[in-house]
Amino acid sequence: MRVDYELMTAQAVGFLETEPGYVPFLSNLSALIYQTLPDLNWAGFYTVTEDGGLLLGPFQGKVACIRLGKGKGVCGVALTQNEVMLVPDVHAFPGHIACDSASNSEIVLPMHDAEGRQRAVLDIDSPLLGRFTEEDAAGLAALVAAVESKIEW
Ligand code: SME
Repeated sequence: MRVDYELMTAQAVGFLETEPGYVPFLSNLSALIYQTLPDLNWAGFYTVTEDGGLLLGPFQGKVACIRLGKGKGVCGVALTQNEVMLVPDVHAFPGHIACDSASNSEIVLPMHDAEGRQRAVLDIDSPLLGRFTEEDAAGLAALVAAVESKIEW
């Protein structure tokens, strides 16, 4: 199934126009992603802490790890490298943190504020191996780019 990322992006921008605070916005965005993308077991956010670690934010899915240390896991590497991490098989990724043993593939995108500071990561997990394509990466990157600088972090 192809995902209409343009429509999702328009919906996300609409949420922000109603309420730019990061908790309500990221809550609704995690729900939108979880409802729209097929074959997911987790979709949500970790926010960047003062020490450069990550703290669990709004999400959909099973109970998750609350804190991820600086540079740890796929999420930490995405921040350290400041780039999208598309991981077709999490079991082949050194240092992957398994919050939900159902996860087999994952995509993580860093998010920044208007000054370019790292604020959060968007983390999406799937029980399928190789679930995320370059098309997903590009669609999600466009969605993130359309909203990240407008969020009240
Ligand atoms: N798998 C992530 C940890 C977060 S959970 O997937 C929700 C990682 O390795 O960074």
